[in-house]
Parts: sequence; structure tokens; C-alpha cells
Amino acid sequence: MRIAIGSDHAGYHLKEKIKEFLLSRGYKVMDMGTNSTESTDYPIYAQRVALAIQKGEADRGILICGTGIGMCITANKFKGVYAALCTDEYMARVSRQHNNANILCLGGRVLGDALAISIVEAWLSADFEGGRHERRVSLIKSMEEDSKP
Ligand code: RB5
Repeated sequence: MRIAIGSDHAGYHLKEKIKEFLLSRGYKVMDMGTNSTESTDYPIYAQRVALAIQKGEADRGILICGTGIGMCITANKFKGVYAALCTDEYMARVSRQHNNANILCLGGRVLGDALAISIVEAWLSADFEGGRHERRVSLIKSMEEDSKP
């Protein structure tokens, strides 16, 4: 599985930790930046990861900023991207099983490293359940198609 990962300065430390974890588990990691703790703007990295998903270059994405909120808002502007902000393993698991989320958003200023890694593990090991959830996800997709102001 190819995973695109991105962060701003507030998520940089956690991005590096998660990257290390993913590589140790044999995932292919595409690091879209940022590459330091120098202040930068989270939408830049959310866009890079979202485009990698849209183009089919990555199977899943992980985005980290201070809270995860800015990354999640930005990523969800991209058609075909379903980003979920998760603060525990249950949310991560269900965001896959029920929502078929293809990007996981995390808060580097909210989560400890160990919890964040455990959330990533839960997210990567859960699959979409389909069934009634397929109908709901399809509703989101049709609203996305019709979402002209
Ligand atoms: C940066 O200070 C912070 O605003 C950003 O990382 C993020 O939390 C935004 O949602």
C-alpha cells in the first residue's frame, strides 16, 4: 500500500514518527513535506496529499497539523477525497468501516506519539464494510457531484 503523508510545522515531529513506523511495517511512504519545524501553511500539504489520492498515485493519505482540523477542512475540498479527523482508535477504525475515509487527519499538538501510532495502526487495518454504509457514502458522492452553489 502506498501512503502519502504530509504535515505543517506543527505536525512535523509526528509526521517523522509515523513515517518511521510505516517504513518499519513495509509500507511505501510518499513524504510530501514539510521538512522542518519552520512555520508554513497547512493547505499546501493537504493539497499535495489530496492530489496524490485523486491521481491514484497513493492509496491512502495521512495529514498532520496542530489540531488536524485545517488539514481535514482543506483535504475535503478535493473531489474523491474523504478525510477523517480522528483522536482515538475507535474513530479511526469506524472512519474506514463506515465512512471509507481515504485520508486520516491527526493533531500533532493534541496526540502523544504512542496514541497517534496506535490510531494509524487501527486505521490501516480496518476495511470498508459496504452494505448500508455503501448507500450513505454514495449519497455523499452524489451530493459532491451536485454541489454547485
Ligand atoms: C498552526 O499554528 C496551526 O494553526 C495549524 O497547525 C493547524 O492546527 C490548523 O488547523
